[in-house]
Amino acid sequence: MSDRTIAVIGGTGDQGFGLVLRWAKAGEKVIIGSRQQQKAEDAAKKAREILGGSVSVSGMENSKAAAAADIIVMSVPFAAHVDMIKSVTDSIKPDDIFVDVVVPLSTAVGGGASTALGVWEGSAAQQAVRLLPPHTKIASAFHNVVAESLQDLKRDIDCDVIVCGDSQEARKVVMDLAKKIPGVRPVDGGRLENSRIVEQMTALLIGINIRYKVSEAGIRITGLPPAS
Ligand SMILES: NC(=O)c1ccc[n+]([C@@H]2O[C@H](COP(=O)([O-])OP(=O)(O)OC[C@H]3O[C@@H](n4cnc5c(N)ncnc54)[C@H](OP(=O)(O)O)[C@@H]3O)[C@@H](O)[C@H]2O)c1
Repeated sequence: MSDRTIAVIGGTGDQGFGLVLRWAKAGEKVIIGSRQQQKAEDAAKKAREILGGSVSVSGMENSKAAAAADIIVMSVPFAAHVDMIKSVTDSIKPDDIFVDVVVPLSTAVGGGASTALGVWEGSAAQQAVRLLPPHTKIASAFHNVVAESLQDLKRDIDCDVIVCGDSQEARKVVMDLAKKIPGVRPVDGGRLENSRIVEQMTALLIGINIRYKVSEAGIRITGLPPAS
């Protein structure tokens, strides 16, 4: 069992719950965060039932979850991004790593999921920079992996995960977290400003899903050396 703790804010939702399952299965200590304590506890119970064995998954209200964790993963709809970050900022400690999974889909303003919004700061992840304490080490990742695949524990994931962040340490930690998910290959995406491209690709993948009548279109970067 890992000695670090991961809190997934919005871990009751599709994407967050999928990440919770994968990391808990890999031996990470995970806390599901929710705006409601009871909802978090119920989701944690469900995760423990699905996984069985001696996994570590608990549930807490978001600010408590963030305060108890070393790695805080933000997995909420873009419409709630600013409010949810504000709800946890006081809980972020100097050594914490913040991972943003949020995609600014047009659904936030009544549009479709196959288009993305322009974000004034450049991307959802860069919006987080403006809101979080200056010491926070921020990375963004897991935008192009589908919740459905994450939650289907019988199958490996067929998708690369591009990790962006201005903190090399955050990128390294999050690439390691990505590697814990069978089938996922982490790819170093460089500066956090590149998150804009990765976030927008999700809208493209959703459109591809619609046109090809599939649900798990993903990405693979070719030409890289074999993973170490
Ligand atoms: N679903 C996917 O396949 C997928 C793939 C890649 C990226 N993403 C991105 O990951 C993020 C989470 O996606 P998701 O599909 O898991 O979202 P979701 O199920 O709609 O919501 C996740 C959680 O966010 C919390 N939340 C906080 N404020 C909210 C609000 N105003 N309205 C609704 N929920 C709110 C809810 O938790 P509580 O009620 O417990 O607080 C909810 O369970 C999104 O930014 C999405 O674009 C999703």
